[in-house]
Amino acid sequence: MNSQPKLRILFSRQEIEAAVSRLAAEIRQDYHDKCPLLIGILKGSFMFLADLIRHLDFPLEVDFIGLSSYGKGERTSGKIKLVKPLGSSVKGREVLVIEDIVDTGLTTAFCLDYLQQRKPASLKLCVLTDKPSRRRVPVTIDYLGFTAPNKFLVGYGLDMNQKFRNLPDICFIEEEEQC
Ligand code: IMP
Repeated sequence: MNSQPKLRILFSRQEIEAAVSRLAAEIRQDYHDKCPLLIGILKGSFMFLADLIRHLDFPLEVDFIGLSSYGKGERTSGKIKLVKPLGSSVKGREVLVIEDIVDTGLTTAFCLDYLQQRKPASLKLCVLTDKPSRRRVPVTIDYLGFTAPNKFLVGYGLDMNQKFRNLPDICFIEEEEQC
């Protein structure tokens, strides 16, 4: 079926901008003299990371790691695959992981474990949106933008079957009414 789902805005572009700027102020306080390595988890974090670093006016580096757990649709497969390895060494670095959304926690927990084994000087996590009701493994979020209800979200980097990443707002897909 190819019909367009109904989208409702959960977090508007103005609310996102305010959250990103608040998070940047918190991160600035902790990292302004540490030349941190910011690692975005692909693909979903690209827009958040790009907006976030525009607010950070101190030396830092950026890298990406590609992880995938989702097959087609809205369900995690539960198995995390490394689809793009890091380009930089994290050993001895002040590392800040940037993630779009934490749902079951499996992807983020895998990523933090993978990085911790590579012996960074410190390792923290910045997440734009948390869906705590779906957690399967515990994850400590050091910098958090929004807490969201248990709905499948799209926009601002988040996709459904690779679509909708380009929406400037974070939206949820409205359930079809049964008739
Ligand atoms: P987790 O491993 O279940 O915590 O999910 C983390 C990854 O699943 C995120 O990086 C997203 O790519 C994807 N994901 C989780 N929830 C959503 C959602 O509501 N919309 C789009 N992608 C999601």
